[in-house]
Amino acid sequence: MSSAQDCRQAVQVDERRLVQALTDLAGFGGSVGDGVARQTLTPQDLQARTWLAARFARRPGYAVGIDEAANLHIRRLGLDDGLPCVMTGSHVDTQPLGGWLDGAFGVMAGLEVLQALDDANLCTQRSVQVVAWTNEEGSRFAPGLMGSQSYVQPDALASFLGVQDAQGMRFEQARDAALADFRHAAAIGGWTCFEARLAQPVYAYLEAHIEQGPVLERRGLPFGVVRAIQGVRWYQVTVEGRSAHAGTTPLEDRDDAQSKSIALAHALLRYAEEKRSLGLRVTIGRWTCEPGAINTIANRVGFTIDVRHPESSEVSAFDGFLREQLPPGGRIAVLQDKPTTRFDPELIGLVRKAAQERDIPALDMVSGAFHDAMPLAGFTRTAMLFAPSIEGISHHPEENTAEADLAACTQVLADCLLELAQTAPSPADPRRASPVL
Ligand code: HGY
Ligand code: MN
Ligand code: MN
Repeated sequence: MSSAQDCRQAVQVDERRLVQALTDLAGFGGSVGDGVARQTLTPQDLQARTWLAARFARRPGYAVGIDEAANLHIRRLGLDDGLPCVMTGSHVDTQPLGGWLDGAFGVMAGLEVLQALDDANLCTQRSVQVVAWTNEEGSRFAPGLMGSQSYVQPDALASFLGVQDAQGMRFEQARDAALADFRHAAAIGGWTCFEARLAQPVYAYLEAHIEQGPVLERRGLPFGVVRAIQGVRWYQVTVEGRSAHAGTTPLEDRDDAQSKSIALAHALLRYAEEKRSLGLRVTIGRWTCEPGAINTIANRVGFTIDVRHPESSEVSAFDGFLREQLPPGGRIAVLQDKPTTRFDPELIGLVRKAAQERDIPALDMVSGAFHDAMPLAGFTRTAMLFAPSIEGISHHPEENTAEADLAACTQVLADCLLELAQTAPSPADPRRASPVL
């Protein structure tokens, strides 16, 4: 193989194989079009993880591993496996009922690139590693990004272990079950494993993802070069009241946690409406009420807020308004707080150039959704690639992307990973023919 250009031509992703793999993955907890229920570390998630690992764990030149945060690593060994690897990936956990592509696309796109390298019989200097990060969504255990945050900041994991889901299960218990599940599958499957540890050096990280919004489709473009992710903050608000009889308690004697919470929620949504032109996005996602009886006035209401904006000053202004509007005795807990994250200019340039060389028109953009690339950006050179979302739908069973767009995004990812991981001329690896030059 003579030149990088020849290698690039040799590494061709297979659209049909990619779509089939995504369709198969959707089968763990749902199906394409009907939605996927595969929250992090649930049985469906563990089955999907085992299926993913088993597909590569016995291939020549591959090794799989799971780290302390239960991040699943699938490594295609390079000629010099001691060098920091080139990493790609995303997440396979979903919203309570999500789509077939959010997160899944980035993991399967990375694995498709590995298979395209196998098809081309190419080896790389650096190992290329695909990661399925634990709990990106944060819907079962808040906050999100637990796996990728733990990878870049191992001492963060301790603060996640005690987090409970709605059934009272601790994240630590679910994580331990995932580790045991992996070890059992590896033992009976004869897998080739490596010891995946947190905070191992990474040469560069690229993540392919669906846009999950309408921008690319409205601009008629098939590809996005993501230069940043907007800031996000999550709150848990708790409003106290006093329970009393719904029929006998006159209004003037009530301390109704529901009516106080509804008034607060309305004020917050009105604030967001007034700031709509600035792009502020406020979402009230989960509402709990105690005692939750039809004929008893609520004595406690809880609700979550997800607020996002590219400028931290806007998020801070919202924070000030929220605290100002909080009724007496109300409490606020910040569950997640990620500032706007900018990606590496050189890596952004690589992605942009790779799309150009494939004659794929692209748009530079800021991601409205957060991703595992957010923590990784503070740890290694990081950038993202977007495929469009049809009608901008995501976190919904009808989430979808044209197959050709999925393939095009995966091809650009392949070109970028190849450029980052390629090798100097060296004795051909016995397992594979011509090295990438
Ligand atoms: O909420 C998000 O931005 C991501 O999709 N989990
Ligand atoms: Mn995602
Ligand atoms: Mn998501």
